[in-house]
Amino acid sequence: MPEMRVLMAHIDTPNQCDIAVYERNGGYQAIRKAIPKIAPSDLTEMVKASGLRGRGGAGFLTGAKWGFIPKDPSLPKYLVCNCDESEPGTFKDRLLIERDPHQLIEGIILASYAIGAHIAFIYCRGEFYEGIRKLRHAVAEAKQRGYIGDKVLGQNYPLEIVVHPGAGAYIAGEETAQLTSLEGYRATPKLKPPFPAVQGLYRKPTIINNVETLCNVVHIVNRGVEWYQSIGKPKNTGTKIFQVSGHVQKPGCYEFPLGIALREALDTAGGMLPGRTFKACYPGGSSCALLTAKDIDISIDFETLAARGTMLGTASLIVMDDSADMVKVAHRLMVFYQNESCGKCTPCREGTRWMVQVLARIEAGKGTHQDLKVIEQVCTHMGANSFCPLAAGAAPPVVSAVKEFRNEFEAYINRNPDANKRPAMPMAYPYM
Ligand SMILES: Cc1cc2nc3c(=O)[nH]c(=O)nc-3n(C[C@H](O)[C@H](O)[C@H](O)COP(=O)(O)O)c2cc1C
Ligand code: SF4
Repeated sequence: MPEMRVLMAHIDTPNQCDIAVYERNGGYQAIRKAIPKIAPSDLTEMVKASGLRGRGGAGFLTGAKWGFIPKDPSLPKYLVCNCDESEPGTFKDRLLIERDPHQLIEGIILASYAIGAHIAFIYCRGEFYEGIRKLRHAVAEAKQRGYIGDKVLGQNYPLEIVVHPGAGAYIAGEETAQLTSLEGYRATPKLKPPFPAVQGLYRKPTIINNVETLCNVVHIVNRGVEWYQSIGKPKNTGTKIFQVSGHVQKPGCYEFPLGIALREALDTAGGMLPGRTFKACYPGGSSCALLTAKDIDISIDFETLAARGTMLGTASLIVMDDSADMVKVAHRLMVFYQNESCGKCTPCREGTRWMVQVLARIEAGKGTHQDLKVIEQVCTHMGANSFCPLAAGAAPPVVSAVKEFRNEFEAYINRNPDANKRPAMPMAYPYM
């Protein structure tokens, strides 16, 4: 299936980061259509009707989220654009801010207007030096043109946009941790409820949306709700930027309507490396369960993947061919989650560490058959009893690898002459 480029339409256009070029290509028409002609509440309804679901991972309905903002005009409100992008395999937001930053600025202006925010923050992953520089330049240009500032488009609506570099932690992408970080503290998650829409940044109503989500809003306003609804599938409207990485011939970002088949995404990315066959793929970044060769024709959308026991997440396809060693994959991923655990709650802090120990032992040929049971038990406990979704996301990539490729784990374990004995490290087995 050919790509359908909407958000990525101008990523290869020379000088698209310059405001004059962005305007020449239809830029800043959406805010002219909306401010002040569409009432903020009507704009929220439009986004709701479009069916747009958040592109940051959870897939929550964007318009519904905006609708949770209290109507009280005396309360300050904030919009935060989540550009932390640290999920393994995810690299779409970086592309959008480096190649077409004004598209995001325009989306932020629309969303801020809809929720009544006068200050918006872009929380940007600190390592995105180029993106941060381009965003700051774009904000300055938009301000010069009167698209942001004391009077947006000369109307009685003030808005400032602040680009805030993060300090480098995966957990800073989680919304409550991100707000804590923005306030100047260490990024640790907070209990929900209250949800940020009610009590967020500085305990004031705050909407947090992903970069790709906000870019979509520009096109919904420009081309209409019906046009947007016509793309994709019911409950899965619009296009999605699929990031294909791993053992394919042309890794990269590809934009398709939601609901294309996995096979089509792989074909567009050039197919598997010469002489290799498809083995498995994480469809939504690393924090989800594996798909295998029997899923090659599955539709990549929110509902179908959830029914299969995995998730769309960020639509980051981490593709593995028959050369991939699933024990090494599981071990490497768990090292990532152990490093990134913020340490606030015990099941995640200790659970990820124990899982790394067990997986390292299996990989070293010193594992036991009992270890596979321990992996299942600790992962289940970790996912169900941790404070935030980081730990719940750390379990499925490993549990599904054991489930789908148990023979590979057993082959490693069978190298151990004591494979059937009880393991020698009691500290790693508190739940038996
Ligand atoms: C550990 C963790 C990391 C996350 N990282 C990101 C991220 O980098 N970018 C992002 O947009 N959402 C991330 N999220 C999801 C956010 O918490 C939040 O749901 C999202 O920003 C909401 O935006 P959306 O409704 O537009 O999808 C992360 C969640 C978790 C649990
Ligand atoms: S689950 Fe992990 S990342 Fe989340 S609060 Fe607990 S320790 Fe921190």
